[in-house]
Amino acid sequence: MPGSVNMSDPTWWQKTCVYQIYLRSFQDGNRDGIGDLAGVLARLDYLAELGVETLWLTPFFRSPQRDFGYDISDPYAVDPQYGSLAELQRLLSAAHARGMRVILDMVLNHTSDEHAWFVQSRRSKDSPLRDYYLWRPGRRPGGAAPPNNWRSMIGPRGWHYDAATDEWYWASFLPFQPDLNYRNPQVKAAMLELCRYWLRLGFDGLRLDIFSALFKDAALRDNPFSPHLLPAEDNPDGFFQHNQYTIDQPDTLDFARELRAAVDEVAAQDGVPRFLVGEAFGPPAKLRRYCGPRADGLHLVFLFKTFRTRFAAPAFRALLREYEREFASPLLPTYVLGNHDRARYLERLGNDPQRAKLLATLQLTARGVPFIYYGECVGMTNLDIPPAAAKDAFAASSRRVPGWLARLARRHGLLLNRDECRGPMQWDDSPNAGFTAPGVTPWLPLHPSYRQVNVAAAQADPDSLWRCYQRLLRLRKQTPALHAGALLLWDEALLPPQVLGYRRSSPPPRAAAAAELTEDAAGAGDCVDVLLNFSAEEQAVELPQQPTAVLFSTHREAALGRRLRLRPYEGLIVRTGRAAPPISG
Ligand code: GLC
Ligand code: CA
Repeated sequence: MPGSVNMSDPTWWQKTCVYQIYLRSFQDGNRDGIGDLAGVLARLDYLAELGVETLWLTPFFRSPQRDFGYDISDPYAVDPQYGSLAELQRLLSAAHARGMRVILDMVLNHTSDEHAWFVQSRRSKDSPLRDYYLWRPGRRPGGAAPPNNWRSMIGPRGWHYDAATDEWYWASFLPFQPDLNYRNPQVKAAMLELCRYWLRLGFDGLRLDIFSALFKDAALRDNPFSPHLLPAEDNPDGFFQHNQYTIDQPDTLDFARELRAAVDEVAAQDGVPRFLVGEAFGPPAKLRRYCGPRADGLHLVFLFKTFRTRFAAPAFRALLREYEREFASPLLPTYVLGNHDRARYLERLGNDPQRAKLLATLQLTARGVPFIYYGECVGMTNLDIPPAAAKDAFAASSRRVPGWLARLARRHGLLLNRDECRGPMQWDDSPNAGFTAPGVTPWLPLHPSYRQVNVAAAQADPDSLWRCYQRLLRLRKQTPALHAGALLLWDEALLPPQVLGYRRSSPPPRAAAAAELTEDAAGAGDCVDVLLNFSAEEQAVELPQQPTAVLFSTHREAALGRRLRLRPYEGLIVRTGRAAPPISG
């Protein structure tokens, strides 16, 4: 079966850890203050040393940069601001040579209004490309009212009037990002071909931008009322509208399978498995549908529920239980703590690196694919930029939002100015933090914390958050139970209320795979217990049997024994004998 996945022999993407590089902010290679491909190339050794395996590059295509690359005017070209095709290819081969994979950010839903298609499409009602986008006459004479009541994903009406032809076009996001019409077979074919093109060039997978918005209701029915003001992780409805006809249409789920088939075809041709990870919003049970009824759709979907999960053992236990239920094998959940649209997660933890270590331990040891956002490992926090100084077009479009609503949104982790989580990478304490040359003005200001909070300082401190990530990534790579094992939650009755425990176990590695493992990991039966103390107090835990080794502690040193005293916010990983006694009721 083409869609089937064999978990006893997981392929690379099932075991991987993804690191998101927000290209503009990672490393400037040519001293213009803007991050670029040459910059990433220069930092590959850093990424290898950290231990991440797959890099996700945010859009590098030709673009007017009004949404910093999510508004593409030519998806076959590299924007000169970021480099050239030759540089991109160099980056791909250099990453592959280090055993790393690279995925790109595919924006299928819309183009820039400067894309040649849209320029042609908007020219006249009988343009041959008119139907590439969603054009409709207004409801009242004179085009006075939009075709229906739909709101965009970000609040205001998503229909935009165009006087040239006295019609309206639809945009799910910002007005200069007109949505493509996937009911037009030519559009669909062209976008599938675009995906194939980049995969054949050597990319290992695609991150699919607002995938859930691809199809809209064919009959353009009005969306019903919803009592929700702000969209939440569990419910993308907002602005008093239920997005019944604008997102998650059945046709989009079908298209996920079509796209999967196209990707599998490329993979079959060159023998390199690829993966798709989609951006959609809603409860896990709903998101799972994007993976297809027979695991024949998208390989992964982002799960953002972590953003709203309280820092407490019962809350994370419930989350793991839900993810395990909805994304049972052969599916895999994803663990995401932040991205280029949301407030950095450290802020949600009161900027406490101890708590961050604990959450990183969970993220890198639960069953699933972790997504790390650049700067998280160093402990970078959000910038503070007044709305008037914002570069983010989304911020400009929401300038009229009243202060109380902005504060409420912030408490939900929603940034009205996404610049705040996109600050230049803090490499060292030199002027401009090593992001760009001293004297150059970086495209966004550096966070003033960079003198203390930076990669160089973190690497010099054996106890830093960065070192904790590095140790976890190494352990994850060497331990089949962690990158490929099943997950079983500990019975809560066996643990103090503020401790979360789970066991990861995998069948003995096959001979071929075992050769690549360290002796330590290959020898023992692969079964480990992860214990996470979410409280600021010590907690006593008794293991059902004597563990054979301590593999990791957020606090570095930990004693081996059955009776444990977990220190405040300690995360501990111990190897447990193969014939481990039951831990769940
Ligand atoms: C996604 C991206 C976001 C972008 C939007 C429109 O949500 O993550 O950064 O602005 O889509 O493409
Ligand atoms: Ca540059």
